[in-house]
Amino acid sequence: MKRLTIPAIRRRKKDGVTAEPIVMLTAYTARQAQLLDAHCDLLLVGDSLGQVIYGLPSSVPVTLDMMINHGAAVVRGSYHAAVVVDMPFGTYEQSPQQAFENAARLLKETGCAAVKLEGGEAMAETVAFLSQRGIPVMGHVGLTPQAVNVLGGYNARGRSDAEADKIVADAKSLDDAGAFAVVIEGVVEPIAIAATKAIACPSIGIGGSAQCDGQVLVTEDMCGMFERVPRFVKRYADIAGLISGAAETYAAEVRARSFPGIEQTYQPKK
Ligand code: KIV
Ligand code: NA
Repeated sequence: MKRLTIPAIRRRKKDGVTAEPIVMLTAYTARQAQLLDAHCDLLLVGDSLGQVIYGLPSSVPVTLDMMINHGAAVVRGSYHAAVVVDMPFGTYEQSPQQAFENAARLLKETGCAAVKLEGGEAMAETVAFLSQRGIPVMGHVGLTPQAVNVLGGYNARGRSDAEADKIVADAKSLDDAGAFAVVIEGVVEPIAIAATKAIACPSIGIGGSAQCDGQVLVTEDMCGMFERVPRFVKRYADIAGLISGAAETYAAEVRARSFPGIEQTYQPKK
């Protein structure tokens, strides 16, 4: 199976219509990437790995080295989906030059096809700078988790007219700057639809609308790894239950000395 290209993803939306919605999930490890690869168009090495893998309180402390290590693992584990790696907080906001230097490291050291960064109009110049120099960029507007210290939490965005207009304008400016797609996170549905209609490139919804051009979820969220998940998550499995159930049975068998059994032990040749 040949790997999907970023231009092929971009072309999914033609004259405002996306006949086949874009499927995207997060992946942080090689094995996870292997399992998701055949089902997805895009794999996102999200900086949500800060909370999901490292137990950090937000994505703010995530480093470029973390993204490089996990990005390389996901590229190694996948063959079909195009891999997008998040630029972590503090590695791109200062200037287009800073962003280019760090985005180039992500491409060179992981083999990923594109990067994602958060922010709207303020990031448009940077998106143009990168995409004109060989680095495809996915934008991310609405609820932008790296801005949690400014936003004050993870509440849905776009409930006031001013906020709604800003989100649509943000998406539009990223599209005009050459972003190949824009994630629209945690916004009221009419604004997700308005932003989708306002841009020529595909929108990828998460807490957006089924009318977005694609969807993304954090894999651990949709697989039921956590008790508490945002409203926009649908659980397709109960991984937490499976893992804790397996650990419970294992622990009981070790304590009863019924594990390892005869099948799991080596015996001398007779
Ligand atoms: O970090 C992440 O997982 C993301 C997606 C939820 C869009 O940015
Ligand atoms: Na992210």
